[in-house]
Amino acid sequence: MKIAFVGKGGSGKTTLSSLFIRHLTANEAPVVAVDADINQHLGAALGLSDEEAAALPALGAHLPLIKDYLRGSNPRISSADAMIKTTPPGEGSRLLRVNEDNPVYDACARTVRLDDGEVRLMATGPFTESDLGVACYHSKVGAVELCLNHLVDGPDEYVVVDMTAGSDSFASGMFTRFDVTFLVAEPTRKGVSVYRQYKEYARDFGVSLKVVGNKVQGEDDLDFLRQEVGDDLLVTLGQSNWVRAMEKGRPPRFELLEADNRCALQTLQDAAEDSYENRDWERYTRQMVHFHLRNAESWGNAKTGVDLASQVDPAFILSEASAVPQPG
Ligand SMILES: Nc1ncnc2c1ncn2[C@@H]1O[C@H](COP(=O)(O)OP(=O)(O)O)[C@@H](O)[C@H]1O
Ligand SMILES: [Mg+2]
Repeated sequence: MKIAFVGKGGSGKTTLSSLFIRHLTANEAPVVAVDADINQHLGAALGLSDEEAAALPALGAHLPLIKDYLRGSNPRISSADAMIKTTPPGEGSRLLRVNEDNPVYDACARTVRLDDGEVRLMATGPFTESDLGVACYHSKVGAVELCLNHLVDGPDEYVVVDMTAGSDSFASGMFTRFDVTFLVAEPTRKGVSVYRQYKEYARDFGVSLKVVGNKVQGEDDLDFLRQEVGDDLLVTLGQSNWVRAMEKGRPPRFELLEADNRCALQTLQDAAEDSYENRDWERYTRQMVHFHLRNAESWGNAKTGVDLASQVDPAFILSEASAVPQPG
């Protein structure tokens, strides 16, 4: 299952991603966590010290390795240089699994120990001012997109991405890579406006979008969200003292998280499981190809000097059946 947390800065994406990851781990589910937020805080929210978080490898810095590995022996991809962030897998490509060792995880993932188990954490690396222009930002988030497009996930395995709801994820198609997208919204007009914008983009692509109300206090907040968001409102969380303690660097054991917040996390897991039941690998692959062709035409062909449409393997459908174990 692939799950994204999106929303306005400060709404609680990172906090809820980290709580959800802890919850999944407590339920013994294997998790790959990905920090693709502009402010890279997921490591800290999972309990890493500042030094540990700073030492996380940056996905963007390992793009050549990632491309070379994923390309495998795919004859349609002539070189790593001809691979853009939307290049889809095909026959000969190497695929990633949640629960395996591979060179991409070796280079880019670190194991984070939690109270109830451990997760793999990958991070895009910090964004700088210049990243928010065009090219570099693409390469950072592009590494995540390549991994998602080559990742075969089963029903009891989780990939959780803490993500910025920016225009880049819309242009590239990354926003369509998830079984469910949790839009974290505070009960404010700004929080809700991000939801409206996301909904607009998502509409034509069958994206399952659920709003998670955060920092909700009392009936008035709840009424506001219900009114603005309607049936898309999945669940709400209140102010959490557990989170407050974590922010002070003193997280209590996870089992001490408030019971109502724990229930809310289970609601998220149930929603994710329901969405995965609708996973249509054929459509998933088709959407990848759709965005690849779009990116090829708008900038990729010009940038690489290659006709990137020829990278599409018309017979290939990403699925568990397509993921044969790779030697080394
Ligand atoms: N449910 C909550 N209870 C208490 N504090 C919260 C809660 N959700 C978020 N916060 C606090 O709000 C701030 C912003 O949250 P964060 O997860 O970093 O937002 P984002 O990733 O969306 O920018 C943090 O200081 C976080 O601790
Ligand atoms: Mg954040």
